[in-house]
Amino acid sequence: MELQDAIKKRKSIRRFQSKAVPKETLRAILELAARAPSAENTQPWEFFVLGGETLDKIREGNVEKVRGFEMPPEEMHYIMVERPKGSIYRQRQIDIGKALFELMDIQREDKVKRAAWTERGFRYFEAPAAIIIAAEKSLPLQQTYLDVGAVMQNICLAALDFGLHTCIENQGVMYAEVVKEHANIPDSKRLIAAIAIGYADWDFPANKVESQREPIDNVVTWCGL
Ligand SMILES: Cc1cc2nc3c(=O)[nH]c(=O)nc-3n(C[C@H](O)[C@H](O)[C@H](O)COP(=O)(O)O)c2cc1C
Repeated sequence: MELQDAIKKRKSIRRFQSKAVPKETLRAILELAARAPSAENTQPWEFFVLGGETLDKIREGNVEKVRGFEMPPEEMHYIMVERPKGSIYRQRQIDIGKALFELMDIQREDKVKRAAWTERGFRYFEAPAAIIIAAEKSLPLQQTYLDVGAVMQNICLAALDFGLHTCIENQGVMYAEVVKEHANIPDSKRLIAAIAIGYADWDFPANKVESQREPIDNVVTWCGL
């Protein structure tokens, strides 16, 4: 796939077909993605690729926590950030939520449907595989975040070349203790994000969402050009 097409076609997919993704394909995607740049070539990323029974157990463990209204462990509080009320960032968050709920026919006051929607993310949107991106806790978080961001975008773009779609998700690592237990991830690792990956189910209404972007001239300042 041409690079420009891939960039335009990448979008978050929130329901996948059950069709399995060959391990070799996942390996090829990660090999490509790991060509990402990183500060001083430190390559802080580590990938834990979940599938089969392991992924099913994590889905169930996550959902149990969500249903029990359990707080994520303290080590994950750093990703539970509120955007300032009244800010453009909060507004964009509201806009994408509204667009998804409209497609899914979820009314704001419908607690049952809203809870079911939330659970979908904790179930990795039923993807046949999920990639957990982790890094040593001893590494400086801000720098690691930049490097991991680059590798995550590479994963999402490379996946498209194999006919696969993705959804980067915080939800997939929020209950880090569940993921760590079933995937055997040592506590010295910080879980940064999950990427659900698989073949998109295009009949699922939320997959038709088109997320909006600020016109580029609103965020560019030309200096000396
Ligand atoms: C770091 C990060 C965390 C995200 N976490 C979630 C998540 O937990 N659940 C979810 O449904 N989408 C999640 N997303 C997807 C965003 O909602 C999505 O990228 C955004 O709305 C723009 O839509 P697009 O990816 O379709 O262009 C996450 C994306 C990023 C980059």
